[in-house]
Amino acid sequence: MLTIDFNVTPDTSADKGLQQRRRNFLTWFLGASVTALFASVAYPVARFLGTPTQPEAATSQVQAGPTNDPELVEKGFKIVRFGSEPVIVIRLSDTDIRAYSAVCTHLACIVEFRKSKRDLFCNCHNGEYDLQGRNIGGPPPRPLRPYQVHIVGQGPGQAGTVFVSRT
Ligand code: FES
Repeated sequence: MLTIDFNVTPDTSADKGLQQRRRNFLTWFLGASVTALFASVAYPVARFLGTPTQPEAATSQVQAGPTNDPELVEKGFKIVRFGSEPVIVIRLSDTDIRAYSAVCTHLACIVEFRKSKRDLFCNCHNGEYDLQGRNIGGPPPRPLRPYQVHIVGQGPGQAGTVFVSRT
């Protein structure tokens, strides 16, 4: 006849010590895992939110290319970077070149030049600016910030170079 003994022998002190070490190891392992997970999320967020260690170099002037730049001639405008700010350079004639901040004063979309209508247009919400950068239609609340344009080296039959600087 088969007999089953359900009596479990009580833990010895050696077994209790082994279980305690396992528990301690699992507790340490879980703590280290949670800490590593937290650090892997927190570090990139902190780096993103922190101030850059090197300030952005102050830009006083940028070169926007030649006055006969094919992009400028065909589309009538081009976007150049002035530090971190996009600037729209529009060419109305060989000698009439203007520049404004390309950032719409409504919600910061990038404006473009409509050659056929001779205006600056923001297609995010149909904002319109005239050729002086003044807001004339749609939701933009303020004019575009103007930039100074200097044309250097232009002569009869010779294209000059366009430079843009702050006013
Ligand atoms: S962002 Fe330009 S009109 Fe709204």
